[in-house]
Amino acid sequence: MLLSIVNLAFLIGAVLFVRGLSMLSSPETARKGNIYAGAIGMGLAILGSIFAPAAKLGAAEVHNNYIWILAGMLVGGSIGYYASYKVKMTAMPQMVAIFNGLGGATAVLLAMVEFNNFYSADVPEGGMGALLSSALALIIGGVAFTGSMIAFLKLEEVIKDNFLVIPKFHTYLNLLLLAVMLGLAVWVVAMGDKGEMWMAIVFMVVALYYGISFVVPIGGADMPVVIALLNTFSGLSAASAGLIYDSKIMVVGGLLVGASGMILTLLMCRAMNRSLLNVLIGGFGGGGAAGKAGTGEQVVKEVSMNDAAIQLNYSKSVVFVPGYGLAVAQAQKVCKEIEDILEANGVEVRYAIHPVAGRMPGHMNVLLAEADVPYPKLLDLDDANSFLANADIAVIVGANDVVNPAALDDPSSPIYGMPILRVWDAKHVIVLKRSMNPGYAGIQNPLFFHDRTRMLFGDAKDTLTKLVSELKSL
Ligand code: TAP
Repeated sequence: MLLSIVNLAFLIGAVLFVRGLSMLSSPETARKGNIYAGAIGMGLAILGSIFAPAAKLGAAEVHNNYIWILAGMLVGGSIGYYASYKVKMTAMPQMVAIFNGLGGATAVLLAMVEFNNFYSADVPEGGMGALLSSALALIIGGVAFTGSMIAFLKLEEVIKDNFLVIPKFHTYLNLLLLAVMLGLAVWVVAMGDKGEMWMAIVFMVVALYYGISFVVPIGGADMPVVIALLNTFSGLSAASAGLIYDSKIMVVGGLLVGASGMILTLLMCRAMNRSLLNVLIGGFGGGGAAGKAGTGEQVVKEVSMNDAAIQLNYSKSVVFVPGYGLAVAQAQKVCKEIEDILEANGVEVRYAIHPVAGRMPGHMNVLLAEADVPYPKLLDLDDANSFLANADIAVIVGANDVVNPAALDDPSSPIYGMPILRVWDAKHVIVLKRSMNPGYAGIQNPLFFHDRTRMLFGDAKDTLTKLVSELKSL
């Protein structure tokens, strides 16, 4: 009876994972999808897993560890609950990195426990299959753990991209390390019950070091892609741990996380017009067009608050282009206020959303949804570029790299080839930012010196708030 209930919980949990994930693809259903997949589906999977051993072996055969499990869930659940309330939207990629890392670390711990059980048993259970699934969990989990920690430290700017001089042959070192790690895995599995615990420990150290060496040379601007890739690894490490325990729900959940992480990784690469291999070994950020920043030969033109308000008020169509600065300034609600004022005056307003604007996938969509901007007003890259061609004004709110024309016409630029928003196709461009500082890729932006561009310096929220007053007084 208990076994049937557990299996039913797993089945419903798996269906909810798939249904919830598919709902995450639209902002209108994403919140519900999160509750289905993340809360109810995962809740059923956890409950089923707790009772599965008793259901399979009978209650008498199972160690009574329920208090430990409950205590672990309380501690972990409280940290998750606290983090979900406290973390700022701008720090979400860091949180994802930590969660990926902890998933990987868990897989490493489970694998080491299993190695220990295997080597210390008089008659080891599971044979080669047990060693193989533990080795898989150790490799993928180890890389996900240390790789994610480096990604976290880079995003938090605790370590800079250039904190280590990375030699040109680092890629070859990594390939060598990868070969050593796989060689150790084959060795450990092939030795079977003749192996010893120290072999598993050496193997673990190499896997953990490989994660560091894999992520260290990757440039900061490529971190989102790396985090999505590490997300794939953490899903696969959970699936491998599922193989260790013959837990189908862990395998299903892990594979779903792995597959969705991989899809996201490839979508992001496509949005930047780069291959995954290029991201992993390419190096990105700094250099290139950055040198043009301080030549002093080009001058930027500014616009006054009053002139900007008049231009906006008497235009027919305005496109806001939000970027990371909108998130930092938390200017989304004031932006929406301007949208309302302009629309009341008959101005058509749209938002151009670049797939990698901000610091995480969907960053701008989330912020604008929070400000109740209707979803149909959000244009994706292609639609935005068509709309911009006939727009009167493009207002850049804290965006930089995603509107940098160097991506189209400067082959020496590190972002060359990345599809961008062609904001200069609009009749006028107003750029809201605080200074001439570069964006995430660390390169200067020729758009700021374009004939049609006018700068409106200041914090985006302050500037937009002042524009609201100006517009109201017209
Ligand atoms: P960025 O190129 O990073 O530019 C943001 C600009 O906002 C900066 O130039 C900054 O200039 C300005 N800014 C910062 N705080 C501001 C404030 N309070 N008020 C007004 N302006 C402010 O942003 P983007 O155009 O959104 O491009 C995103 C970049 O991040 C891309 O290179 C992308 O590859 C990378 N990235 C993306 C993701 C994802 S998945 N979205 C994740 C990580 C990294 P000032 O300092 O002069 O104000």
